[in-house]
Amino acid sequence: MSRIVGIDLGTSTSEIACIVDGTPKLLPNSLGKVVTPSVVHIGEDGTVLVGEEAAEYLFTRPDCTFIEVKRLTGSGETLKAHGKEYAPEDIQAMLLSYLVRCAESSLEEKIDRAVITVPAYFTDVQRRATAKAGELAGLHVERIINEPTAAALDYGLSNLKECKNVLVYDLGGGTLDVTVLELFEGVIDVKASSGNNQLGGKDFDEIIMRHLADPTEDERALMRLKKSAEDCKIALSVEDEYTVSLPFLLTDKDGKPVSVEKTVSRRNFEDWVSEKVASTREPMMSALADAKLAPSDLQVVLLVGGSTRIPCIKKLVEETLGASPRSLVDPDLTVARGAAIQAGLIEGSINNKDLVLTDVCPYTLGTAPLREGLFGKRLVFDPIIPRNTTIPTEKAKIYFPAADYQTSVIIDVYQGESSDPDNNERLGEVRLTGIPPARQGKEQIEVTFGYDMNGILQVKASVLSTGRQVSAEISTTGVKAKPVLNLSKWEQAEGARQFRPLIRKAEKLIALNMDIGGDINMLVQRIKEELLLKNKEQADNLREELLAMLEVMEKVDKR
Ligand SMILES: Nc1ncnc2c1ncn2[C@@H]1O[C@H](COP(=O)(O)OP(=O)(O)OP(=O)(O)O)[C@@H](O)[C@H]1O
Ligand SMILES: [Mg+2]
Repeated sequence: MSRIVGIDLGTSTSEIACIVDGTPKLLPNSLGKVVTPSVVHIGEDGTVLVGEEAAEYLFTRPDCTFIEVKRLTGSGETLKAHGKEYAPEDIQAMLLSYLVRCAESSLEEKIDRAVITVPAYFTDVQRRATAKAGELAGLHVERIINEPTAAALDYGLSNLKECKNVLVYDLGGGTLDVTVLELFEGVIDVKASSGNNQLGGKDFDEIIMRHLADPTEDERALMRLKKSAEDCKIALSVEDEYTVSLPFLLTDKDGKPVSVEKTVSRRNFEDWVSEKVASTREPMMSALADAKLAPSDLQVVLLVGGSTRIPCIKKLVEETLGASPRSLVDPDLTVARGAAIQAGLIEGSINNKDLVLTDVCPYTLGTAPLREGLFGKRLVFDPIIPRNTTIPTEKAKIYFPAADYQTSVIIDVYQGESSDPDNNERLGEVRLTGIPPARQGKEQIEVTFGYDMNGILQVKASVLSTGRQVSAEISTTGVKAKPVLNLSKWEQAEGARQFRPLIRKAEKLIALNMDIGGDINMLVQRIKEELLLKNKEQADNLREELLAMLEVMEKVDKR
């Protein structure tokens, strides 16, 4: 089997890595650098340039040079160059192809399998679009993983012995991701994710731009302005003041040249962005609440993404969590390193006995049935998979056709947190026909939602009386990658999640030390059985017993 690479396909920068000798290694691009600007230039004759070479055309040919395309992922918008139309996925595919070609020449082997990262807060549609970009680039996308989870894998691999609650705060060029997870001797148990997939460094650039000059349509002027705004922002992360100087930026309506010369202080900048910065507090609190943790329960805060170098961002995280966040991972490279680790777990170059990962679905997924209310019948959002459920997962609910003798139903699929479906994102629908005509309430329709390790949704609907069934992968594109971490039956049982780290630890110890494993093994098996039988209380009692036994065993071990 060929090697699998890990790719961080970022809004501003992208990186590619793979496992060499058991550790992640970043692979250089054609200029010898491991960080590639996410810029694509399409020439008149169709030649494609990527990275720094493409960025050189930002000022002279902004009409056919694309930046920050990730923010358009799955939007259905099109981009134009030389009269030809491109989907955002087409441009993303060019970026991916370039990274893969560079990796091929650095490794001197053919590459056609990849793990690609996306923000945890990417929707189902955005994930499918990312997978499509990979396929367009000729890649078999083995797995789509969440960026903060990748960062956790990177941290986890170098801290295999730790047991800690970790919050990852990832603020990059275009997206904010907050993820809370538990690290337990190599088991990474993601508990909750939250965020905003339309907030990042580019928004700070735009705010500075608005303070520097009046709005203009002139694309070249805009690009120059944007570049200066970003330079200014980056400088202010270390300096107190920065002077933007843009001579002859554009000409006014009388044809007179307009120049910009302005000094911006760090205070100015912090005032301008304060609202956006403060808005990142809510996702931190919400992820913590969903994980049932208080800020004081956190032992590690990982800062990821270029925008976490901004001092007022660090300060906000510190104030909100009451602990000083530490940059324990490389903020620019950690996501690609984590993607490579996931690739290594799939290809077997990293032992999945050492490192185990669980992840969650960040949004609530459900349908919108008609419900009787005070003001008559109306559509209400009915959750089937609640947000932050561990994945992969499958959940089912029973519905009834709304009218007598109805022979078909449409099941609308929504993603979001509002009880009003209109406030949520509509992902698609499944139509079930062939229901035997009957009085209302007689025929039962079972709707099943499955959510896989890539964060991709599968919806099934069936008529219980006849067994007639339809199923659809919501939306038209997407990968069908097989989950590699196959959760066994007991792991999928309700309430099993809190038990997983402990049981994994016990099993690891048993594997290491057969002599004293007998009793522990029996306890572990009993816990699994109780979980499967949904005897939560019994399982809890046995858990206490197991904990005590492990403690004794560790003491013996140390002696
Ligand atoms: N020293 C700095 N001070 C402030 N901002 C910075 C600094 N260095 C980089 N940035 C900003 O960080 C952003 C890029 O970060 P990064 O490369 O982590 O994002 P990305 O991975 O491309 O984006 P995303 O993860 O949102 O898709 C840009 O907006 C850049 O201006
Ligand atoms: Mg990033």
